[in-house]
Amino acid sequence: MRQSLIMGNWKMNGSREEGQQLAKALAEGLGSVNQEVAVCVPFVYLSDIRTVLAASPIALGAQNVADQASGAYTGEVSAAMLADCGVKYSLVGHSERRSYYGDSNESVAKRFVQAQKQNIIPVLCVGETLEEREQNRTFQVVEEQLDTVIDAAGIEAFANAVIAYEPVWAIGTGKTASDEQAQEVHKYIRQQIAKRSQAIADKVQILYGGSVKPDNAKGLFAMPDIDGGLVGGASLDAKGFLQICHSV
Ligand code: PGA
Repeated sequence: MRQSLIMGNWKMNGSREEGQQLAKALAEGLGSVNQEVAVCVPFVYLSDIRTVLAASPIALGAQNVADQASGAYTGEVSAAMLADCGVKYSLVGHSERRSYYGDSNESVAKRFVQAQKQNIIPVLCVGETLEEREQNRTFQVVEEQLDTVIDAAGIEAFANAVIAYEPVWAIGTGKTASDEQAQEVHKYIRQQIAKRSQAIADKVQILYGGSVKPDNAKGLFAMPDIDGGLVGGASLDAKGFLQICHSV
């Protein structure tokens, strides 16, 4: 049985104080849950949010990690620095990084490897655009995104990684994939892993992301290959996010 994971992604939102208040509300409101809960916060607030979450089971995540270990890479934040700040998870290859900042499959694979070197669990984001879906290329795109990382890191690396399927057309648009549409791709991703290792395929958590809301979370999370969610917009509201956390 895989443990569920619900991960908030605050993206580039809020002030220090708003972040602290949100984290406090989550810590106080979560209660006892079996699933893992984490929040991916802006780099500059990691330490502040870590302090607020210190006594709670909510884990800390980053939204990106450098593809190099250290050195002359102005503006980047290394995995070692994130580990220093108490980060447990880091997103890699979020679609906004891929589309606005040019993160290629190769650079995403390097980020994945760097995170694991510092014992940070990478959350590999994959997903197709609307155009790719309409051209029936969903499986092909997701497979390429996944394969580049498997080739670079090895299949064994997925024993300590999370995959997030986020169809680009569903992110921040209010258009969620149907439970069945999401399940179909999740199942495909698990099959791709199983081709190399059934044990890892059985174990790896695959999250769904893209307009997860309190009213659609339950249906999505009930699907056999959906092990939780990566929640953007709805994670900025404590009440709604907690409701999503309790939808597992
Ligand atoms: P959304 O974002 O929930 O606002 O669609 C999800 C994400 O980008 O991780």
